[in-house]
Order: sequence, then structure tokens, then C-alpha cells
Amino acid sequence: MSDDNTPCSYIIFGATGNLSRIKLMPALYQLDLAGKLHPASRILALGRSDWDHLDCRSKVENWIVERRPEAADAAELARFLARIDYLQGDLKNDGFYRRLAQTLAEGQTYPENAVFYLAIGPDHFGPVIAGLGEAGLFAEQDYWRRLVVEKPFGSDLKSARALQRILGRHLREEQVYRIDHYLGKGTVQNVLVFRFANTMLEPLWNRNYIDHVQITHSEALGIGGRGRFYEGTGALRDMIQSHLLQLLTLVAMEPPVSMEAEALRDEKVKVLKSIRPFADGEIDKHAYRAQYAAGSIAGATVPGYLQEADVDVGSTTETYAALKLYIDNWRWRGVPFYLRTGKRMSQRSSLISIRFRQPPQQFFRGTAVQSQRANWLLLGIQPCDCLRIEITVKEPGLDLTTRQTSLDAGLRGVDEAPIDAYEALLLDAIEGDRSLFLRYDEVDQAWQILEPILHHWREAPGPVASYAAGSWGPEESRRLFDSEEHLWRHSLDPVRK
Ligand code: BG6
Repeated sequence: MSDDNTPCSYIIFGATGNLSRIKLMPALYQLDLAGKLHPASRILALGRSDWDHLDCRSKVENWIVERRPEAADAAELARFLARIDYLQGDLKNDGFYRRLAQTLAEGQTYPENAVFYLAIGPDHFGPVIAGLGEAGLFAEQDYWRRLVVEKPFGSDLKSARALQRILGRHLREEQVYRIDHYLGKGTVQNVLVFRFANTMLEPLWNRNYIDHVQITHSEALGIGGRGRFYEGTGALRDMIQSHLLQLLTLVAMEPPVSMEAEALRDEKVKVLKSIRPFADGEIDKHAYRAQYAAGSIAGATVPGYLQEADVDVGSTTETYAALKLYIDNWRWRGVPFYLRTGKRMSQRSSLISIRFRQPPQQFFRGTAVQSQRANWLLLGIQPCDCLRIEITVKEPGLDLTTRQTSLDAGLRGVDEAPIDAYEALLLDAIEGDRSLFLRYDEVDQAWQILEPILHHWREAPGPVASYAAGSWGPEESRRLFDSEEHLWRHSLDPVRK
């Protein structure tokens, strides 16, 4: 169903916070610039800070200007800011939800179609959903009400199920938009287009031709000021449970019957259900964790994780996690999928690397071609959104020598501006398209996969292994590899070995 450009109210919980500053407000502004916000649409920002409408508008103005000064046109910005109102309140106070309901009902200011966006700490999700539900704010008539829930959806299987029960009490599943912003990234959506709009790949996309798959997300940044959040979270929950497992589903899924949300999500959940459970006592063969120690990034010395603010001196929280998973289905049986993420690594990079098998026979034996290299298909998510296929070609000249070259397809021309994932997803939420949002069974299944690792790590005594900030993580993580010749593919740079 498309409700293209319908007037709607955005009610943002946590509007004074980081996500709102860095992502949500700039994304809404971009949507406005692109003509995707109806003239009557309004934004109601909610927060605890003692602001009024004008304070809020001036903060948002600064956020937008600091983010994309080049896009901040004075007239457009003034039009956008005029859409924003601010309501101060305490989420823990029942009276706040009554006040919110009154504000929304007053006059004709706020369109009745409404998206409630929870950009708040996960501890508040349950109480806020209950507060909104009890104030009748999710009730629909000839208008719709939708809820966008940020990650993390729970901190383990039990808490995710508890949160889901609260949602189920107050909303229909069709009203719930569980966000994973990775699904809004250009290349991530392109994985589907690449796989299902090009016939040449399908015959190769299976265990007969693919040796293994790697999905890497590395960041040069540390945990910033988020010590308290990160201590209870760690890399496995923060990145792998959501973003990396979602990427895996897109790479591995069968073609859906259509691009409709349910068809797509059915296929994704099938992949998650096919992931082989870890055998007893085998977790260490499949999962590896580590923490960054002090090191140097771009020439500057940075502290280790244990020296960061709000981090316990004896913390065993992982800032690096690597996993090996098998998908036990007809297409993928026996192909390892290596997932890896880390903070304070050498560079910021998100990459899906697919390594094809070696040719079945050393065809060039007896010539100057000493060894043949495997083909790699690389899907760069960031910083470069591109697609690269590495192949071997003959070098010019009389001798039969070879070299590696690559076929490159930039996914965006130099004159095409990048679209932030939040722009795409906020627009989908207004248009009622849930295909890039998570259905609960995906979330549940992802927790089921990781639960044994979480348990094992919780029980294992510290300290955990460490890696120097600015490195590519510990060498020891290679113990996950099925074969001696496997190596981590860090970035788009060619492999030297
Ligand atoms: C978030 C995590 O979901 O994703 C952060 O909580 C992480 O820890 C971020 O830094 C990475 O997102 P992006 O879009 O910057 O790659």
C-alpha cells in the first residue's frame, strides 16, 4: 500500500538526543527538500530538556547546518523548521501521555496519520509503548498509526519476547516498524537488485561455485561516550544480532515470490532458521571475541576499551566479535559464512566479500603461471558503495603470465548524492512499506542463534583477548577458518597474498 505524500505527524521520542541530532532531523529535512513531506505534515519533538518550540527549532537548525552545510538553504530550512513543535515531558509520568494525546487532538494542527518514533534507550521502550497504548494513541480509524522501534530489540531472547508481548498488547503487527538502518543503505538494497535482476549470477550463487562468504563491518571509532550502553551490549549484540545477520540473509536467501514485505521476510527468516546450531562444547570453534587495547589511529594515540569512561576495569565486554556460521540448506550446505565486526580497527569499512572456488584443475601447470587466484566478488557498503569482481587476466607480452584485475561498478555516479539510510526508511514508514523493516520472527530467530554464544561468554572467565587499536583485530581469530588458505578480506584493496 502506498500512501505517498500523505499528511502525517512525526512524533519523535528522544528528540533532544544523539540519533535525532545526527540522523532523524537531517533525514526529515532531506525528505522535505525532496518534496516527500506533505505541506501539512508536522513534527512533534519530545524530550526532557527545558526547551520551547523556538529553542528546539534553533537546535535543529544547528544540527542540519553542521551536518550538511551545503544543503542548508535558508528558505527551505525556515520552511522545514516551521513544521517543528516541542513538547517537554517525562516518559515515566502517566500524565505525559495524556498531555501528548491532548496536544495531538488540539485544533487541526497535527494530521491524524502518525508515526511514533522511539529514539530512546531500550529500557524505555516497554513503558513508552504501554503509555501510548493506554492513552489510546495507537487506535486507528480512517487514519493510521505506526510505531518505529529502534534497535536493540531486547538484549537477549527473553527480553525480546517480553518486549514483543507488550507490542502485541497495544498494536497490530502491521503497525510496527522494527528498524535496522542497514537495510536502508544503498548497497544493501542493491544486493537484492544485483542478485535478482541479473540472471548471470544465479547459476553461480551456491555451494558449487562459492567457497565462502565474509561479511565485515569495521570502525575506526571507539565507543565514544556510550560506555554505559556498550558495557551491557558488546559487539555481538550491537552489530551481529541485527545488521550483520540481516546482511547474511540478503546474500543467502532464495528469490522471494515478490518484493512485498511478507514475501521478502519469509525468505529471510528461512535463512535464519537454516543456520546450523552450535554443537555442545563447540562454541569456541565458531565464535571469537576480543577487546581493543590502547593504540594509534590516524597518528593519534587512543586509549584501550578498559580505560574508556563508564567501563568496568575488569570488563569482559567484547568490542570485536567474529563468527563462523553454516547454512544447512540445499544451496549453502558446507559453505562457511564468516561475520566480523570491531571498533577501533584500522579503518571504517563495511564489505560483503564472496570468494569463489579455485578452478578444478591447475590448467596452467608447466607455464609461468605459478598459482591461480580465486575470484572475489566484493560488495562495498561503505565508505564506497560499489561492486567489484576480481578476475585473472593474461598480461600483455609474449610470456604467458597473469595478473589480477577487477571489473568495477560504482553504484553511484559522482553527481548523484548519497541517500542516508534513515531518509529511505523514514519515507517507507510514511508510505506503509515494511519490507525493509524486521518482522518479529526474524528478531527472535537471530537471538536464538546467538543465545548459546552469549551464555558461553557470560560464563567464561576474563580477561578476553585484546588487539591494538588501529589494527585489523587479533590474528588468533583466524582459528575460525575452515581452511589454512582462508584469510580475512579487510577492504576493497587487493589481497597481496
Ligand atoms: C549502530 C551501532 O546500530 O550501528 C553502533 O549501535 C554502530 O555501535 C553503528 O557504530 C554503525 O552504523 P553505521 O551506519 O555508521 O555503519
